[in-house]
Amino acid sequence: MSVIKQETNLIVQKNRELTAILEVSRVLTTSFALEKNLQSVMSTLGTLLEMQRGCVFLLDPLSGELRIVAAHGLTKKNIEKGKYRIGEGIVGRVLEKKRPMVIQNIDNEPLFLNKTGARPAKAGVSFLCIPLMLKEEVLGVLSVDRIYSEKLGNVDDDLRVLTIVASLIAQFIKLWESYEEIEHEKEDLKRELQGKYRIENMIGMSDKIQGVYEAVHRVAPSKATVLLRGESGTGKELIAKGIHYMSPRSKGAFIKFNCASIPEGLLESELFGHEKGAFTGAIASRKGKFELAEAGTIFLDEIGDLPVSLQPKILRVLQEKEFERVGSENTIKVDVRIITATSRNLEDLAARGKFREDLYYRLNVIPIFLPPLRERGEDIPVLIEFFLDKFNKENNRMVSLDKYALQVLLSYNWPGNVRELENTIERLVIMTGVDKITPSELPVSLSLKPSQILVDSGSLSANVEEIEKANILESLEKTGWNQSKAARLLGITPRQIGYKIRKYKLNSTEL
Ligand SMILES: Nc1ncnc2c1ncn2[C@@H]1O[C@H](COP(=O)(O)OP(=O)(O)OP(=O)(O)O)[C@@H](O)[C@H]1O
Ligand SMILES: [Mg+2]
Repeated sequence: MSVIKQETNLIVQKNRELTAILEVSRVLTTSFALEKNLQSVMSTLGTLLEMQRGCVFLLDPLSGELRIVAAHGLTKKNIEKGKYRIGEGIVGRVLEKKRPMVIQNIDNEPLFLNKTGARPAKAGVSFLCIPLMLKEEVLGVLSVDRIYSEKLGNVDDDLRVLTIVASLIAQFIKLWESYEEIEHEKEDLKRELQGKYRIENMIGMSDKIQGVYEAVHRVAPSKATVLLRGESGTGKELIAKGIHYMSPRSKGAFIKFNCASIPEGLLESELFGHEKGAFTGAIASRKGKFELAEAGTIFLDEIGDLPVSLQPKILRVLQEKEFERVGSENTIKVDVRIITATSRNLEDLAARGKFREDLYYRLNVIPIFLPPLRERGEDIPVLIEFFLDKFNKENNRMVSLDKYALQVLLSYNWPGNVRELENTIERLVIMTGVDKITPSELPVSLSLKPSQILVDSGSLSANVEEIEKANILESLEKTGWNQSKAARLLGITPRQIGYKIRKYKLNSTEL
């Protein structure tokens, strides 16, 4: 080879090495994704330095084993097999001695174990193995196979480049380790915080319900009037009790009163009590709910249903903490905390003159909104588990749900919220004879309507497809594969069902 050609080769070679090093350091600073980044490094070495095979082994300090985390030119099987202990084979020895090793021709080397089985016999390759070190600590090993030719430079050049690459990798691994540690600490802290806001008997850890717990913890110690708002079955009563039992009045009574449960005529005496002879049938004096709640909490449920005639009296208790029993002129002073709840739109009621505005403002000092179950889907699995456990214990059963039944429950929109879920699970535990519930045991009302399926594009969409497929299959089977009948059953057109059958490849002859 002429001198000029040699020099040109050398320049090309150096240029390539520099590019490789630059590329490796670029890849390693893009993110903290360990395996992905190391994989890119190996591919870079593969292409830019023309290396046949390469591996990054990391030392698992617990097992003392070296494991491949990234590789170039190896199959999955090769990777799985490539495990070394400290001191074992060349890789293990490099780790132990903390010094690189170069084998000019692996065919002549008895120490070479070829554990991965990636290299054919008599391949004529050289093997370079460099420890990944930071200060004195060895984190793993970088290994590379390479066929040499004059054009590609020599082993010493490679060793130099790979030593630089190894130190870049080692620094990255150290950084990654501290990043992982911080992430874990963050997770732990978050979990600790979540645990902090627990409420007796309340299940659910979604962000939305966490917000509720947090609000409850803030208001509980005070005497403030709280208005709980939310759809039916979202847990308003549970929260009202939670506030009471977490408050300084927890030793006092928790008196619940449903404003919608009693005829208007009897409401006043129920709430405020009456004197003997106050009205026909009042044969003895009686304390009302407010008096019973003395030093405790009164929970006025369905406050939106409170008749307008009684609203001023409630307003007075709220403001002055005083009232009179029916048929008495004696003013009674009480020390009660008032918690109210409603699933109705109080603003709307106020606008229509059904709810006094002054009372509304007085009640609405601290509103707490309970999110509907469909807005906190991540709580559904834990609630299911909780209720299954509860009703299994109560009924001495071992009922569980199969994957598909669970998917149906996860995709349903629960208009009756937690109460509906609770009732559904109770019914399933009591009424089904089987231990493993499949979608066919579920109440028909729970199976998704096609319209619902089509609009659902959220995180559950993959599941929704499965459910949709199962639903279509079920209706086809029910109707003896009569597509028009099946479509009618599902509330979709024959054309739509035809499309879906093709989409999901549901063909009776293939099943
Ligand atoms: N987060 C929850 N964890 C466990 N059980 C819950 C939860 N939320 C509600 N429940 C249960 O669901 C049922 C309904 O709850 P609750 O009576 O508190 O709802 P509500 O909002 O007062 O409903 P309504 O407006 O219909 O009176 C109860 O049996 C309650 O124990
Ligand atoms: Mg209630």
